[in-house]
Amino acid sequence: MKLENVRAIVTGAASGIGRCIALELAREGAKVVGGDIDLDGLKELSADSKELPGEVHGLHLDVANESTVKDFMAQAYEKIEYVNTLVNNAGILRDGLLVTQDNEGWLRKMPTAQWKRVIDVNLTGAFFMAREFAALAIEKNTSPALIVNISSITRSGNPGQSNYSASKAGLDADTRTWAIELAPFGFRVAGIAPGLTNTPILSRVSEAAMTEMIGKIPLGRIGEPLEIWQAMRFIIECDYFTGSVIDVDGGAKF
Ligand SMILES: NC(=O)c1ccc[n+]([C@@H]2O[C@H](COP(=O)([O-])OP(=O)(O)OC[C@H]3O[C@@H](n4cnc5c(N)ncnc54)[C@H](O)[C@@H]3O)[C@@H](O)[C@H]2O)c1
Repeated sequence: MKLENVRAIVTGAASGIGRCIALELAREGAKVVGGDIDLDGLKELSADSKELPGEVHGLHLDVANESTVKDFMAQAYEKIEYVNTLVNNAGILRDGLLVTQDNEGWLRKMPTAQWKRVIDVNLTGAFFMAREFAALAIEKNTSPALIVNISSITRSGNPGQSNYSASKAGLDADTRTWAIELAPFGFRVAGIAPGLTNTPILSRVSEAAMTEMIGKIPLGRIGEPLEIWQAMRFIIECDYFTGSVIDVDGGAKF
């Protein structure tokens, strides 16, 4: 797909990687609807896109809320006429161990709500978005169409992240599944698995954990959102790329 022909929805567009992807798409002349729960961040995003050749519209979206997703889709179509690309980027961390024991022997179990919220946003949210997008694109005959899921290299398991790792492993599984299911309709479905990337989500990671993780990155530094965009750009432009996930991680495998 040519970049200037992209009509995209980017979830989690108010911050970090999603914000960067939305702005870079608009720099290439694409039209974008950014969805997020952070309305102030969306306002800033739209303001920062004003001088760019494309368009960025911000709309409220909670990907974990099924009815919000449906309303958002309808509004997105009103803003940019049609949508041919979905970037499932919204994601959260709520780290914790399955069980821990303090010095006095008390056990603490990960609360169910902590497990569920991460699965609801990172995995079920992507499912809601992909399902509604695919149904509308097929109904409106908007092929070729593209879904890009942003997962994480922690998908194969990372201590303290059982909820997050599971959500990202599920997302990668669905990248492969949806690529096969939707290919007959003219869709490609691909993924990007970032390693540690310089965005506000990292404020939830302790300094000690950051130092330890950076020590395991062969390139010796964390990545930048623009380096994730470079993978996105390749996926958009290469019409033969589907069903696979690109790791952008400085060589790190946690
Ligand atoms: N930064 C990293 O090190 C890193 C590494 C691997 C994967 N990722 C993934 O990249 C994606 C983007 O993360 P980021 O680093 O830019 O983080 P970020 O916190 O800067 O941005 C995430 C955005 O998602 C939004 N969001 C949260 N819950 C939402 C919901 N229910 N509905 C809609 N929007 C919601 C937030 O408001 C925020 O704007 C996430 O899926 C994350 O898991 C990030």
